[in-house]
Amino acid sequence: MIDSFNRNITYLRLSVTELCNLRCRYCMPEEGVCKKRHEDMLTQEEMLLAARVCASLGIRKIRITGGEPLVKPNILPLCREIAAINGIEEICLTTNATLLAPMAQQLKQAGIDRLNISLDTLDEAKYRMITRGGELTAAIDGIKAALDAGFQKIKINTVLIGGFNIDEISSLADLTKQYPVDVRFIELMPMVDNRDFGPEAYVPNTVVLEELPELEPLPHDGSVARLYRLPGALGKIGLISPVSAHFCAECNRIRITADGKVKPCLHSSDEISIKGLDEDGMREKIKSAILEKPQWHGELSYYEKSRAGRSMNQIGG
Ligand code: GTP
Ligand code: 5AD
Ligand code: SF4
Repeated sequence: MIDSFNRNITYLRLSVTELCNLRCRYCMPEEGVCKKRHEDMLTQEEMLLAARVCASLGIRKIRITGGEPLVKPNILPLCREIAAINGIEEICLTTNATLLAPMAQQLKQAGIDRLNISLDTLDEAKYRMITRGGELTAAIDGIKAALDAGFQKIKINTVLIGGFNIDEISSLADLTKQYPVDVRFIELMPMVDNRDFGPEAYVPNTVVLEELPELEPLPHDGSVARLYRLPGALGKIGLISPVSAHFCAECNRIRITADGKVKPCLHSSDEISIKGLDEDGMREKIKSAILEKPQWHGELSYYEKSRAGRSMNQIGG
C-alpha cells in the first residue's frame, strides 16, 4: 500500500513480546517491564490475523521483534505459521542471541530466512554492564550456532555509544573478516528519559569512517544502512544513522506492538489499537495507520528525545 508521501509500505515489524532476558541500558528500565495484563496483549491468533491482513495490504517482509522473541513460549509455531502466509516473501527475526544456540536449527526449520543479532561489545565485563547481567559467551555461542544451522546474511547490530564502545569499532568490524556476517553500527537513539547516557553518549556514525579509513563504499541496497566493506572481508559494514541522517523519505515500514498498537512511525506517539478486532476491523485500522504515517520523525538528539512515548522493548526497535 502507498502512504500519503508516496512510500510503498512493504515491511512489518511485529513485536511478539515486551519481555526480555536482558536489560540493555538503552532499551529497558532497570526494573524490567511492568508486566501487562495477559488480556491486554495480542493473542497468537490475533498476531497471525494481523500478519495476514498486512500481507493482503501489500506487506512482503515481516520481521519478528520483541523484547526478545525467543523468550516467547510457542515462538516456533508462530514463526512457522507466519512463514506460510501467502504473499510474505521474507521472514526475519531480531534477537540478542543469548537463547539462540539450542534453537537456531529449529528456527531455520520453522522458516525464518534471516537473523539480526544485537552485540555491542566483545568484552565480557562490558557486556554484563550494558545488558545489566548478560553473558557474552551465550551470545557468541548463539551466533556460531546460527552459522552452523546454515543461516546466511546474518547481521550483527552494534549500538554505538560514546564512552563505551568507540574503542571497539575496529575489533567489532573485524568480525566481518572472521565470519560471513555483516556488522552494522547504529546511532544511539534518545528514547524516553534515560539517566545512563549523557550528551557524550550520542556519537554520529561518521566516527566509524574516521576509525576505519580503509572502508570501501558499496552500492546502496535499499536497506536503512549505508554499506561498506573492509578490504578482503567476508561480510559488509553498515552504518544506520537515524539521528544524524534520518532515512524517513525511504521508510517502508510499520510496526505492531505486542499489546496490539499499530505504530506508523517509531518516534511518533501515534498508536492505533487493533486488539480484539476481527479481520475487517483490523484491515480498516491498519490502512488508516499507513495513511497517517508521518513524513519524518522530527529532530532527535540528547536534548530532543523521541516522542515514541515507549521504551524500545515496548516497540520492537
Ligand atoms: P534488515 O531487514 O536486515 O534490513 O533489518 P532492519 O535494520 O530493518 O532491522 P533491525 O531489527 O536489525 O534494526 C536495526 C536498527 O535499525 C534498530 O536500532 C532499529 O531501531 C533501527 N530501525 C529500524 N527501522 C527503523 C526506522 O524506521 N526508523 C528508525 N529511526 N530506526 C529504525
Ligand atoms: N538506539 C539505537 N538502537 C537501539 N536498539 C534498541 N534500543 C536502541 C536505541 N535506543 C537496537 C538493538 C537491536 C535493535 C532492534 O534495536 O540493539 O539490535
Ligand atoms: Fe533485550 Fe534487545 Fe532490549 Fe537488549 S536491546 S534489553 S536484548 S530487547
